[in-house]
Amino acid sequence: MSETLHMDLGKESYDIVVERGALARVSELLNLNRRVLIVTDDGVPPVYAETVAEACAEPIIVTYPQGEDTKSFEVLADLCAVMLENGFTRTDCVVAVGGGVIGDLSGFAAASFMRGIDFYNIPTTLLSQVDSSIGGKTAINHEGVKNCVGAFYQPKKVVIDPEVLSTLPARQVSNGLAEAIKMAATCDKDLFERIEAGNPMEMLDEIIVSSLKIKKYVVEQDATEKSLRRVLNFGHTLGHGIESQAALRDGDRALYHGECVALGMLPMCAPEVRDRLVTVLKKAGLPTETDIDMNAALAAVSHDKKMDGSKINYVYCPEIGAFEFRSASLDEYAEVVKNSGAY
Ligand code: GLY
Repeated sequence: MSETLHMDLGKESYDIVVERGALARVSELLNLNRRVLIVTDDGVPPVYAETVAEACAEPIIVTYPQGEDTKSFEVLADLCAVMLENGFTRTDCVVAVGGGVIGDLSGFAAASFMRGIDFYNIPTTLLSQVDSSIGGKTAINHEGVKNCVGAFYQPKKVVIDPEVLSTLPARQVSNGLAEAIKMAATCDKDLFERIEAGNPMEMLDEIIVSSLKIKKYVVEQDATEKSLRRVLNFGHTLGHGIESQAALRDGDRALYHGECVALGMLPMCAPEVRDRLVTVLKKAGLPTETDIDMNAALAAVSHDKKMDGSKINYVYCPEIGAFEFRSASLDEYAEVVKNSGAY
């Protein structure tokens, strides 16, 4: 399969190439005839970054520990130091080879270094392939607050090779499916019904392309999240609160981002939607129940950047394929969660 989507954002337009085997073709797809900083982590099979390096005139691979802690000022400073030490100029580039953490971090380093150098993203997780690699959100975390320092900075190209998903653990595939289900539930009834009728694990190529088309449409209308793009936060307001509590847990009891989004969607929809979501989330290997302390999760929601003054903004799904933007005080929001009967 091979499909190229064009993200139409004026001077910041770019192509998203979705193609089995694309990784082996990066020399044709990207301009790598310059200094190239390839950023990856130790959870990504090294062969992916090495394949990119073989296609570059002057590659440097940097590998960081897998996980959210890598999205830090320390690592950002390290990336800038590596570029300075190796004589990078504004005509050189950064390539992310990894999941959302590596994409967010590398994109922000590219946005910041010399006031912006070219950035390519080669996402290697389903979550980053369907969602975080496109749309230009880049960030690091600070003082325990996720994504609180960052920039909108569009990549020059995104190369998505679904073949790399063959090395991805099943739980990580489920993690990415949560973002696809989020988009289908609110924006694409047809996709939701196809997932409902099928086995999501066996239709990943189709899910990737359909999700990217939704995201492309949304980002083209509203690149900087002033209005429509907020729909992509369905499940994320409470999800981030749950995630902050889950982060305090160790090992398998910790929850992935997509798992928190899955849980975060359930109170924010009509009962008929919830019943269908529960079925689809279970099919996708995602949790629909949790023993996370909801009061603590709700307290963490107050730190969320979707707060507008004393109001919390959230997305509600009244029927499959539709959404509403709602606003509530924290107390009202807590009532919505507690009275939903979701958990
Ligand atoms: N992942 C949400 C967005 O890109 O806006």
